[in-house]
Formats: sequence, C-alpha cells, structure tokens
Amino acid sequence: MMSLLLSISLFLGLVHRIASSGPVDPTKGFVSLPLNQSNFDVQRPYDVPEDERYSFEHGVHKLWVYSSDKPHTPTSRTHPRTEIRIRGYDYSSGVWQFEGYGYVPCGTTGVCIMQLFGASPHATTLMLRVYNGSLYYYRNLVLLESVYERWFKLNVIHDVNASTVKIYIDEQLKMVAPGRGGASHYFKCGVYEQDNASYYMESRWKGIKVLKIRD
Ligand SMILES: *[C@@H]1O[C@H](CO)[C@@H](O)[C@H](O)[C@H]1NC(C)=O
Ligand SMILES: *[C@@H]1O[C@H](CO)[C@@H](O)[C@H](O)[C@H]1NC(C)=O
Ligand SMILES: *[C@@H]1O[C@H](CO)[C@@H](O)[C@H](O)[C@H]1NC(C)=O
Ligand SMILES: *[C@@H]1O[C@H](CO)[C@@H](O)[C@H](O)[C@H]1NC(C)=O
Repeated sequence: MMSLLLSISLFLGLVHRIASSGPVDPTKGFVSLPLNQSNFDVQRPYDVPEDERYSFEHGVHKLWVYSSDKPHTPTSRTHPRTEIRIRGYDYSSGVWQFEGYGYVPCGTTGVCIMQLFGASPHATTLMLRVYNGSLYYYRNLVLLESVYERWFKLNVIHDVNASTVKIYIDEQLKMVAPGRGGASHYFKCGVYEQDNASYYMESRWKGIKVLKIRD
C-alpha cells in the first residue's frame, strides 16, 4: 500500500502526506555512524564570536540568530543563519538518515530549522521550516500543527537512488517527498532565516545521529 501511494504521488509529481498510523522505528536496518563535536561545523554570522550565537550544554545544541545579522561569510548573499553543518558524511548515493530531537521556542517564525542540502537546480532537497507556530515542508504543507515549546523527534530518510525523502515526526511517517536531484548532499540543523521571519530565531537540538543502510 505504502509503495503504491508513493508511486502514485511521484507519478503525479506531488508530495504526499501520510495519514497517522502506529509508531514505527525508522532506524530499523540502519547503522549509526560515529559522530563527535568535530562533525558539527557551526556556521554563524561571520562578524560575531561563536559563543554569541551557539551553545552546547548538557547535550543540547542551542542555535540562535537575529534577522539583522550578517550572513555566514563576507561574500555570501544569503540570509542570516546559525546552523550545524554535519561534516564527514557528505553523500551522493545510498540511503541516509538524520535523527535528532528538536525544540523551537515560542515566537521563532519564518525560519528553516533543518535542511537536507544539495539538489539541482535548487539548493536543497528538503527544508523544514517554522511559520506561525507550525512545522512545514518548505512553505507548502504542515507536518506538525503545534511545534512551539516541546521536544519532537525527527527522522529524515533520504533514499538517493529511489529519489525519495521520508519525514517522520515522533516515530510517525508524516510525508514522503520526492527527491530534487543534485550530486552531493549533507544534513544541517539550526536556524536559517526565510520569509516573514521574526527578529529573534532559535532552535535547539539533541541526540543527533547520522545513520546509513549498510552497502
Ligand atoms: C572525532 O571523530 C573524528 C572523525 O571520525 C576522529 O578523527 C577523531 O579522532 C574523533 N575525536 C574524538 C575526540 O573522539
Ligand atoms: C504567517 O503569518 C503571517 C502574518 O499573519 C502571514 O503573512 C504568513 O503568510 C503566515 N505564513 C504562513 C506560511 O501561513
Ligand atoms: C538504482 O536504480 C536503478 C534504476 O531504478 C537500478 O537499476 C539500480 O539497480 C539501483 N541501484 C541501487 C544501488 O539500488
Ligand atoms: C510574507 O512573505 C511573503 C513571501 O515573501 C510576502 O509575499 C508577504 O508579503 C510577507 N508577509 C508579511 C506580513 O510580511
């Protein structure tokens, strides 16, 4: 049934939102890859010290940024961001998974909190954004109605060969989105300003894992 729905939605070129069902373990069949602080490259406004936009305490990564901030490099023309860019696990094939627990304080809006980078002609294969208290797939579809002030568990599975992205929240499959091309991918989480942004943007992350189906 799942694969039939998937085929239909891909055939139509549409993203498909899945009705709720029982909890599943999205990591079944995957191996968790070694990660330490050296895999967490923090991108932040280039003219401020890291500890003014990022902290890591009691296992929680806290990232924040202001809409008046500079981009992450002097030559970048992108909006302000403070993001963890996962290093060491860029990929171009296979089935990869990001797992993490995310938290967004009340008031943070108009911001991307997680990305699956790399696509063609777009820059990203997935953006999870917060608008007005809900978690969205880009600006298109609500994945979680009330995202503020609670920890949620996120699992994102990117099957490069099948060109699909599965998004699980709290162990429920919320959406199967089509891939968007691209030759190289990696995961990011934090805050990256989008449209209708609040002045202050923050997200927190813990329990970050990168997993892969064994080749
Ligand atoms: C962190 O991981 C890197 C890459 O896998 C490894 O080279 C390094 O020794 C590790 N550092 C620590 C402190 O475990
Ligand atoms: C969020 O609210 C603002 C202000 O009411 C509105 O302009 C914007 O379109 C909303 N965003 C979404 C994605 O609904
Ligand atoms: C990738 O997909 C192609 C075409 O769908 C298939 O022929 C090939 O065996 C797949 N490769 C892997 C590694 O699954
Ligand atoms: C929100 O962003 C959209 C897209 O950039 C824009 O058209 C709209 O005017 C914005 N709304 C507000 C209230 O700023």
